[in-house]
Amino acid sequence: MTSIAVAQGASVFSNPRAAAPEVPYGAQRSMILDGAGFDGAEAAIRAWPGYAPSPLRTLPALADALGLATLYYKDEGGRFGLGSFKALGGAYAVYRLIARGIAARQGGALPPPAEILAGRYRSEVADMTVTCATDGNHGRSVAWGAQLFGCRCVIYIHATVSEGRREAIARYGAEVVRVPGNYDDSVRHAAAEAARHGWTVVSDTTYEGYRDIPIDVMHGYGVMAREIVRQIPEPPTHVIVQAGVGALAASVCAAFWLAWGPARPRFVVVEPVNAACLYQSGLAGHPVAVHGDLDTVMAGLACGEVSPVAWEILDAGASAFATVGDEFALEAMRRFARPLAADHPIVAGETGASGLALLLATQAHEPIRELLALERDSRVLLIGSEGDTDPVIYRQVVGLDAAEVRR
Ligand SMILES: Cc1ncc(COP(=O)(O)O)c(C=O)c1O
Repeated sequence: MTSIAVAQGASVFSNPRAAAPEVPYGAQRSMILDGAGFDGAEAAIRAWPGYAPSPLRTLPALADALGLATLYYKDEGGRFGLGSFKALGGAYAVYRLIARGIAARQGGALPPPAEILAGRYRSEVADMTVTCATDGNHGRSVAWGAQLFGCRCVIYIHATVSEGRREAIARYGAEVVRVPGNYDDSVRHAAAEAARHGWTVVSDTTYEGYRDIPIDVMHGYGVMAREIVRQIPEPPTHVIVQAGVGALAASVCAAFWLAWGPARPRFVVVEPVNAACLYQSGLAGHPVAVHGDLDTVMAGLACGEVSPVAWEILDAGASAFATVGDEFALEAMRRFARPLAADHPIVAGETGASGLALLLATQAHEPIRELLALERDSRVLLIGSEGDTDPVIYRQVVGLDAAEVRR
């Protein structure tokens, strides 16, 4: 049975198709993301220059204020200097694409990242062009990966992507092209341009006939999930993951399912009220597109169409789908920046703060707490998917810049 609970600024429903905890990952669906794929991503990404696990913070005072036992925050703000977990996905897919191309030409196994980084295949890699559509962070990762491994890169952004986010992509040497419409329009534009010029699309979302590259992206994200599994003393009771197209959520869901089996946490997917495609798909029981300008301050989540592959995993793996209003995301950023008591100050961008936004919006709402089974002894994990990826917007919202928050 589907139960829905609505508070001011938030809405939650429990997924009637959620698999029971003891149902193994892959029992109902094909194992789209698998252990070997996560292993391969870990082996490659740990070899990149500057790799370090991102911190997993605990926030005892905030947990107490929210009526929870423990609050964990996986802080992706420092990931490879790119400001978000996305550094793991797009760049890994660029590496795999290049490595597959080399292996196909010369036969044998994929060359390891170190060989490509050392310039062994420089001229053939320089002939390749990768492209994608982005609302900021994915494009930054693809551009960085292209620069790191030495191929050309063209990135498409839609009408409302901020100038700061545009510049951050261009900094990695990519050509950045702004196109009219929303994120989903820019996805179609990138696909059409790639077909016209013979480029390769490195998308974080799957579509009809296009799955392998986004699956690489999702295996790349799994590095973050596996770090959490090693860092956390015991599995949390709940994890709240923000979703745009759902690739991050699906990756974390699959990785936790594989790692923890029946001890896996309740999995809550959160989206902005205006871009709630997973929420709507969850209600309908199949992928449903959300239209309009998808306007939200949570820029990374402004997506109207779920990734079908992500949907296959989340349809069974998500315990609940939720929406949250922008005002709570802004409030969450401020709360992270000015912590209670001895809690660690945290720099979280609008999208990175969306898990706390949901907790703030629902903390005093008993029906929602009940629906999510949130109790005094709950251990809740939030995915801090980005830091101040747009420092100008961050300062406007929080009244401090990142360096002042960390001081
Ligand atoms: C910082 C951040 N968090 C979360 C997401 C959501 O990821 P997905 O689109 O895979 O659901 C994005 C997407 O761009 C993002 O930039």
